[in-house]
Amino acid sequence: MTRIGVGVIGCGNISATYLRNARLFAGIELVGCADLMPELAEARAQEYGVRAMTVEDLLASPEIGLVLNLTVPRAHYDVTLSALSAGKHVFTEKPLGVTADEGQRLVDEAEARNLAIGSAPDTFLGAAGRHARRLVDQGAIGRPVVGTAFMMGRGMEHWHPNPQFYYQPGAGPVLDMGPYYLTMLVNLLGPVARVSALAGQGQDERLITAEGPLKGTTFPVGTPTSVLSLLEFASGAMVTFGASWDVFRHSNHPIELHGTDGSLRLPDPDTFGGIVSVSSRGADWVDHDTAGDLYGAVNFPLAEPRIANYRVLGVADLVRSLQAGTAPRASGRLALHVLEIMEAILRSGAQGEWVRLETRDVQPAPLPEEEAAALLGPQEADAKAR
Ligand SMILES: NC(=O)c1ccc[n+]([C@@H]2O[C@H](COP(=O)([O-])OP(=O)(O)OC[C@H]3O[C@@H](n4cnc5c(N)ncnc54)[C@H](O)[C@@H]3O)[C@@H](O)[C@H]2O)c1
Repeated sequence: MTRIGVGVIGCGNISATYLRNARLFAGIELVGCADLMPELAEARAQEYGVRAMTVEDLLASPEIGLVLNLTVPRAHYDVTLSALSAGKHVFTEKPLGVTADEGQRLVDEAEARNLAIGSAPDTFLGAAGRHARRLVDQGAIGRPVVGTAFMMGRGMEHWHPNPQFYYQPGAGPVLDMGPYYLTMLVNLLGPVARVSALAGQGQDERLITAEGPLKGTTFPVGTPTSVLSLLEFASGAMVTFGASWDVFRHSNHPIELHGTDGSLRLPDPDTFGGIVSVSSRGADWVDHDTAGDLYGAVNFPLAEPRIANYRVLGVADLVRSLQAGTAPRASGRLALHVLEIMEAILRSGAQGEWVRLETRDVQPAPLPEEEAAALLGPQEADAKAR
């Protein structure tokens, strides 16, 4: 496979994951990294053996064919647009932009320039997502009729020293965590046709309890922290999606889908592995632990709890798609639809009305196992064969 030179813009928290995982994949040649704060680029460059660059030099470099945009959400639009304008393909962290309008403009710009645009999350391409997709496509649960998806927790201020931004417009549980759940659902069920929602907040102020200079101080909440939505898919399937940072403890499964012939249970869609369970017409659950499958093994030493984390898989698939002349799976169009769903949820929550979406053909092609394996570099492929 021909390799493409990759430059990273945004050397914060998540960049360590990308720089580490990029080495797993055959089509990617890490060239350099840049950040508004040069010392962060310098630190990452030393850690991962790449070149620290300025954003301008990175965008001008003929060695770089693809930019990984790992900046904060409010910078995604400008950084992606600059990269496209410099003639680079782009893969961006989620969300594609902070509004659907921004996302649409980026997708249009990439198309006009005949460049590829892809976006996180790529977790749906992991072992659990592929296994679930196979089951649904093979008819293991018949026609999906109804389902639930829940992302619930107590928020960020107990671990993050500067959590205020999570609670302002442009963030909140829907925009921050929704992409994992909604991308997985669209991958399994196709596009969403209409949305309604209720939105509220458990507290008007939050108390920072994480260690740091702001410990013990409060800040105002500026966006809903509990949202219950109803999603009607173009296929007719109905899903309740709940996203809340007002929940201390709960027992809801991350995703369950129920069809005319059975039920399917998925693990946390913010990981690549986990247990997928299926029940045929009410029989006991049959569990499949995807830890033994490709991109399902727990591999990640950088955070607790340890999980299967193969971020960059979607980038590798996008690079392959450039060479094969096919559509990338974690595409800008898919991310745009997910952004439209999230915007519709928040609008419905604010206005109390159903919001209709333009349903596009955004469901990605399934990722066959051989194709998934072919994305690995020779060392990883050898290790897997042993
Ligand atoms: N941290 C995580 O665990 C995590 C997980 C999944 C996804 N993400 C996503 O990854 C993205 C980055 O998150 P993070 O936690 O790494 O944030 P971060 O704040 O730690 O890092 C972002 C970096 O981008 C830089 N930056 C901002 N604007 C820039 C610009 N215009 N040009 C160059 N550099 C710029 C900042 O200086 C900063 O170093 C977000 O979209 C987030 O949603 C983060």
